[in-house]
Amino acid sequence: MQNVDEDTITQIVLARHAEASSTRLKQIMTSVVQHLHAFARDVQLSEEEWFQGIQFLTEVGHITDDKRQEFILLSDTLGLSMLVTALNNRKPRGCTESTVFGPFFVEDAPHYENGADVGNGARGEPCFVTGRVTGLDGEPVANARVDVWQADSDGFYDVQYAGTHEAHGRGTLRSQADGTFHFRSITAESYPIPHDGPVGRMLTALGRHPWRPAHLHFMIDAPGYERLITHVFRSGDKYLDSDAVFGVRSSLIADWERHESGTSPDGIAHDSPFSTLDFTFVLNRVNAGTGRSR
Ligand code: BEZ
Ligand code: FE
Repeated sequence: MQNVDEDTITQIVLARHAEASSTRLKQIMTSVVQHLHAFARDVQLSEEEWFQGIQFLTEVGHITDDKRQEFILLSDTLGLSMLVTALNNRKPRGCTESTVFGPFFVEDAPHYENGADVGNGARGEPCFVTGRVTGLDGEPVANARVDVWQADSDGFYDVQYAGTHEAHGRGTLRSQADGTFHFRSITAESYPIPHDGPVGRMLTALGRHPWRPAHLHFMIDAPGYERLITHVFRSGDKYLDSDAVFGVRSSLIADWERHESGTSPDGIAHDSPFSTLDFTFVLNRVNAGTGRSR
């Protein structure tokens, strides 16, 4: 095909995909090309702007390695991660809502017994967490695998510290026969997502801040139930309405009760402040559907 012009190029590119190796790939790439071309036409993209975009994506690639995932940050800050989460996690009312996974999960975090200190030396005020895993009918879910991870009071996950190999503020537990689990950690604080790279510069240029409201991450797996990936957000946080990655659901906001001193749920007396958090996680049964018409 010759003499391709601005009016014919979209259809001509799509025709080249006739022999795509799968119909799903063809469907996705057709849509990608249509939307990319529509975007360029819509804003009348200049050659200089096109090259700035190429340079930006090149920088995103260059800063990405096995510890720093700038492409996920880009997806998160553009709302794409939360959109994909919402599209893929429709559930019946009453189930705990899902939210973004984020880039700081680590496979094979250490396993802890209930009551253990998952903080493991992470900086922050002590926090005692009690949780319960149930199904939609209120049935306790025993032996669920509960992964928890969080930032320290300086706003960093353990994996963000150079040379750290030990887990701090992350671990896995199992729910007990009545579905409950409990552990000690540190009180969650709001923190900025990594913003010393191209995504941070993009946020600044757009007049946006990089902050996330204080939260704990949870991933809960139990046979017969759908995996739940979610957060619990701290009520009163000033960033609840402007989360840099659009992850807040009001149903996931809970009170971190602050105690100036006293006896924590594990029976230990404290003469300095600590907080307590209690949250129930309601899982959706596998194949239970969404409970909604769409
Ligand atoms: C997080 O909550 O860990 C997170 C989520 C999205 C981007 C950066 C961090
Ligand atoms: Fe986080």
